Amino acid sequence: MNIVVLTGAGISAESGVPTFRDADGLWEGHDPMTVATPEAFAADPDLVHRFYDERRAVLPRVQPNAAHRALARLEAALGDDLHLVTQNVDDLHERAGSRQVHHMHGRLRAAWCTACDSRHDWGDPLLDRPPCPTCGSRTLRPDVVWFGEVPHDMDVVEERLWACDLFVSIGTSGLVHPAAAFVHWSRGDTLELNLDASAGSTDFARSRRGPATELVPAWVDEVLG
Ligand code: OAD
Ligand code: ZN
Repeated sequence: MNIVVLTGAGISAESGVPTFRDADGLWEGHDPMTVATPEAFAADPDLVHRFYDERRAVLPRVQPNAAHRALARLEAALGDDLHLVTQNVDDLHERAGSRQVHHMHGRLRAAWCTACDSRHDWGDPLLDRPPCPTCGSRTLRPDVVWFGEVPHDMDVVEERLWACDLFVSIGTSGLVHPAAAFVHWSRGDTLELNLDASAGSTDFARSRRGPATELVPAWVDEVLG
């Protein structure tokens, strides 16, 4: 059975990573959506660096939860028959044991040099403009995908959706494209696991409501029989 799983901020919510649209919503008076753009970075790079530096600094203090661990268990059993795609920029899937993760919106723990196009694993702040380890220029930015930029790995993900038997969407509001369209690209059965109804709920053949830490392990148990 070929399965494609898409995860969103809801899978990390119970680990203590704030979602984008559920919480009180504002960060220092800014809507996070207005910070996650190339225009915001051009206009006020310090503001954008501080936003991502804070989110990166939270990662060592949060732990993967039962939902992340269940997906790692699924990968261990299915191998290449599972494709895990995440919109999340945290590292909780990897820390739970998943080895193949398509980070379509990039990774918080990575920096990208816009001068020489090199990418580096990165745990420290970027606000003080550390030099690029490759070329030395002080042009590192968070290696995340901002609104208006092209998500990573879309060619392989689209291919897998066309070939899958089952597409499962976990903890995402279904508001941000292209991920919101995956349910339409899937040739297989479709299942949504979410705390509440999402924007795309009616497009799924089946939906289950509840916290990811309960729904995901239960679903993985079913698949593995
Ligand atoms: P959102 O914050 O938009 O949506 C979070 C979803 O998780 C909602 O549908 C909630 O119902 C659900 N949820 C919350 N707690 C949950 C729990 N404990 N168990 C299960 N579900 C739960 O986050 P995303 O859909 O991931 O992109 O947002 C998509 C993209 O928008 C992000 O990757 C980011 C953002 O702008 C970029 O920055 C490019
Ligand atoms: Zn460089």
